[in-house]
Amino acid sequence: MSARKTPAAKKPAATSAWSRTASDALVEKAVQIIPGGVNSPVRACKSVHGTPLYFDHAQGAEIVDVDGNSYIDFCMSWGPLILGHSDPEVVKAVQEAAPKGLSYGACHSGEVAIAEALIKAFPGAEMARLVSSGTEAVMTALRLARGATGRSLIVKFEGGYHGHSDGLLVKAGSGLVTAAQPGAEASSQGIPREIAALTISLPFGKLAEVEKLFAFHGPKIAAVIIEPLPANNGLLQQSTEFLKGLRHITQKHGSVLIFDEVISGFRLNYGGYGKLIGVEPDLVTLGKIIGGGMPIGAIVGPKRLLGLLAPAGPVYQAGTLSGNPVSVAAGLKTLERLSNPKLYANLDKLGAYLEQKLAATGIPWLRVRRVGSIAWPYFVEGAFPPDADHIDPKAIERFNLMYQKVLEQGVYLPPSAYEVLFLSAAHTEAHIDKLVAALASAAVGVE
Ligand SMILES: Cc1ncc(COP(=O)(O)O)c(C=O)c1O
Repeated sequence: MSARKTPAAKKPAATSAWSRTASDALVEKAVQIIPGGVNSPVRACKSVHGTPLYFDHAQGAEIVDVDGNSYIDFCMSWGPLILGHSDPEVVKAVQEAAPKGLSYGACHSGEVAIAEALIKAFPGAEMARLVSSGTEAVMTALRLARGATGRSLIVKFEGGYHGHSDGLLVKAGSGLVTAAQPGAEASSQGIPREIAALTISLPFGKLAEVEKLFAFHGPKIAAVIIEPLPANNGLLQQSTEFLKGLRHITQKHGSVLIFDEVISGFRLNYGGYGKLIGVEPDLVTLGKIIGGGMPIGAIVGPKRLLGLLAPAGPVYQAGTLSGNPVSVAAGLKTLERLSNPKLYANLDKLGAYLEQKLAATGIPWLRVRRVGSIAWPYFVEGAFPPDADHIDPKAIERFNLMYQKVLEQGVYLPPSAYEVLFLSAAHTEAHIDKLVAALASAAVGVE
């Protein structure tokens, strides 16, 4: 594997000259042989009235499509790339690992090193198990919770997304809001009613509803799973009191509290959102950042739970590529870089700069809801929504109307109004200036 040279920063094409001929040719071919032309639904760009771009390479904060158009990327592979695309140190770690074996299907020292790093980063964690995706991490955490408690029901929150496993596609996140055909109780067809019926979905933020549910069904509830910083249906930040309340209720009823930190893990601090607010769940699920852009997932928690996983215990879980040495090398290097707290302070500063610059446009509705380096464009004035039901359709409509105009100015946003922007260590104030200028210009004429 040879290092890819940093592509020369290309001036984004002016709107009139913006060409996507090569991308369009690939779209035409892809739709014939890949369902919807994409390998993950939101990429189809349907909700922003577009079709996918095909990308050729990326470096730092820039991504370049097959037509040679360069964009400042604020999607950043949906979160893993906190250091930017192809960070040279992470790429070097991958280059050093790859010739030593792409996969062993057997043990290696990197697995021990990353387990140690993850355990240190999460209070109360004593063990970690690696898997290959966030979806897998969540599936495993739920099986563990059911195995540990002997109970069947799980509780999630409306608009939370925890991957695409059967029991969790029940009133799930943005991909389903914009794309799927709702089934009977599930958010996707193909999920047996019997399985969907084991998941109870509650609104965010309403502790009284959680209490009521537990009063009726407590002895049957294996787990409550929540993104402690919900970032899959806009950014629906919850109060610390609510999360503390969940901790209290689950403890009282002997249920397992799972914080799904696939997005928030190592995003705002070295560790998780739970650590930041002082709430310790029983299990934490991770993915994205801990693989530095390579496929990975992990479950961390105490021995009393993780010790139940096969072969130590009776709860089965396995994976051909689990603990993949190349993913682990990328993850370890990423975590090493993140151990510098300045990195998080700088990201927060950049986020604050984004807010200031948006305010300076004088367009009152042009704003984001931001926590650290996560920013959700929410294009209406007034209070931010506490839950998915309160998202103002006007905000969604404005984002969708503006998306293509922003893109044509060389700024790549996640292709859905329900998705958040991710800032990375590779972004600069100049990149933010360009984002804000593109948004302000796209806002002209939008009611
Ligand atoms: C909170 C959360 N959990 C789980 C997942 C699923 O992870 P993956 O896409 O790696 O399977 C995601 C994906 O976006 C996520 O945001």
